[in-house]
Amino acid sequence: MKSKVTVVGAGNVGATCAHILATKGYADVVLVDIIEGMPQGKALDMSQSTPIVGSDAKIIGTNGYEETANSDIVIITSGVPRKPGMSRDDLLLTNMKIIQEVTAQVAKQSPKCFLIMVANPLDAMAQLAMHVSKFPRERVMGMAGVLDTARFRTFLAQELNASVEDVQAYVLGGHGDTMVPLVASTTVGGIPISQLLPKERIDAIVKRTAGGGGEIVSLLKTGSAFYAPATAAVEMAESILLDKKRILPCAVCLQGEYGIKGLFVGVPVKLGAKGVEQIIEFKLTAEEDAALKKSAASVQELIDVMKI
Ligand code: APR
Repeated sequence: MKSKVTVVGAGNVGATCAHILATKGYADVVLVDIIEGMPQGKALDMSQSTPIVGSDAKIIGTNGYEETANSDIVIITSGVPRKPGMSRDDLLLTNMKIIQEVTAQVAKQSPKCFLIMVANPLDAMAQLAMHVSKFPRERVMGMAGVLDTARFRTFLAQELNASVEDVQAYVLGGHGDTMVPLVASTTVGGIPISQLLPKERIDAIVKRTAGGGGEIVSLLKTGSAFYAPATAAVEMAESILLDKKRILPCAVCLQGEYGIKGLFVGVPVKLGAKGVEQIIEFKLTAEEDAALKKSAASVQELIDVMKI
């Protein structure tokens, strides 16, 4: 039997997630949105792409949640995106209401599912979803680190005119200005990045990575990035559905790991059939450790505003 993935929010990120999944073919997809006709229309369009790519995935669009029942994974992308000049945190109060309502519906229909949060501010919304669903932490995760790391790898590969495949890197922390690219353990073809690029170029790439989402918002003017975010969310879903046990940077609820308790922060985790199967702790440099704690503090500020 094929797996079942629900994608809530059929806008830019959600529809792109659904389309990637439809192309891959290992899961049926239910696409949910509040706009009447829109998820149905997009699902029909995607269904008609499946014979071309040779996928037997079934794609359904709906405005309700009954069709989502017993999903294996639910990817939540419903919520407003940023406009130029806004930070992700500015979305807090609007998206909080949406995520509260959506998570309650999802948890009712699919009490055993894995939740992958994409809506921003990411870490706070993931924490809210765990609070509302009452799911164990193994089944709630936020997509940020895979995207931030992909941005970092892209910029490094461009700088060095190298293949993205040879750039090994990790970006931890919250999904915002306080993210923590792990420069000391970044390698290209196994060679430490510090031996390949001068410090000022590395610093500039780190800065561009942290502002990577904002750079796209200011170009698009009417919305935020969606191709890379959707691809990143599907990579996480795939690791769970296919029990790949990938080690990916994801936002998870730390319970003492890295000295942080009760907060969603991006760290390396092993994703497999049981969801978050392991939170991988390793020694950070003093600078990285301080940056991770700072990142956690900024997530705490949002949690305090939400009073959860
Ligand atoms: N239930 C279902 N869908 C909803 C709800 C709701 N309660 N509220 C809003 N939506 C839908 C909107 O109708 C819209 O189609 O969510 C969709 C969001 O799509 P876009 O506006 O295109 O936004 P997108 O770029 O996909 O970003 C979604 O992901 O990356 C983050 O910051 C981004 O928080 C934003 C989210």
